[in-house]
Amino acid sequence: MSRLRVAIQKSGRLSEKSQELLKNCGLRFARSKDKLFWYGQDFPVDLLLVRDDDIPRLLLDGVCDLGIVGENIASEVMLERESEQQMKRFRKLGFGHCRLSIAVPESSGISSLDDLGDKRIATSYPALTAYLLREKGVTPQIVELSGSVEIAPSMGTADAISDLVSTGTTLRANHLVEMEVLYESQAALYGRAGDPGAEKQQLMELLLSRLEGVMQAAESKYVMLHAPRDALEEITELLPGVEHPSVMPLEGSDRIAVHAVCGETVFWEHLEALKAVGASAILVLPVEKMLA
Ligand code: PRP
Ligand code: ZN
Repeated sequence: MSRLRVAIQKSGRLSEKSQELLKNCGLRFARSKDKLFWYGQDFPVDLLLVRDDDIPRLLLDGVCDLGIVGENIASEVMLERESEQQMKRFRKLGFGHCRLSIAVPESSGISSLDDLGDKRIATSYPALTAYLLREKGVTPQIVELSGSVEIAPSMGTADAISDLVSTGTTLRANHLVEMEVLYESQAALYGRAGDPGAEKQQLMELLLSRLEGVMQAAESKYVMLHAPRDALEEITELLPGVEHPSVMPLEGSDRIAVHAVCGETVFWEHLEALKAVGASAILVLPVEKMLA
């Protein structure tokens, strides 16, 4: 019986969410705090906990079958290795949002991409930065750094940087301003292109279908309410992402109970609009699991 090996970030921005997502897919691991390998207990999927930057290589080299990593890192490796065809993105995962941006010192006088032509740009993403800038017709000198990119301008080793921005705290702390967003990124599930073999294929499909369910459930809400019978059509229209709600009569009343799974975010405004057309006893509940 084959087992799947999934690489996730050991510690950092993506690690907790990656673990949580797999846990919500029903995976349990025999873990020991400092070991890098977690054995899958009731499902043949094991975890490898590594540096996020290593994940694309582990996939390409066949050490792991799947990996959760930022699109920025995957894209960088694909460009470096010219291996776009060898990696496959299965699904964006909706967390770990950040952007790769060009940032410049507050008083640099650099205000647009056109000013970058003869400048030095420090980055840990040399291939992605060069590629994205070339597409915009700019070909500056790229200074590759493995970390602490944000201090390069004050050290005098670069005029600008191309780095990941999430909250913007790092930029502010280093008196840098974000000048241009080059790339929007989030965590995604990657694998290798090609046939993994029947057993692994089956495991992957099962895992992906659970993942789909977990992510849909996270976006969905179960809504229950009472309403006048003749308001059903209006109510259905007001429920976000609902076409066919369940409708039940209420004993001894001309009102009905309406239940529905809303596939889109339910805001207070939705509830207020429902109330305005006669709905009452409106309840919004989280959905734990979902299987289409
Ligand atoms: C990125 C980037 C900045 C920081 C920006 O590093 O290099 O240092 O995050 O985040 P902020 O806008 O919220 O301040 P990351 O955490 O990805 O570390 P890594 O490159 O070592 O994986
Ligand atoms: Zn990293």
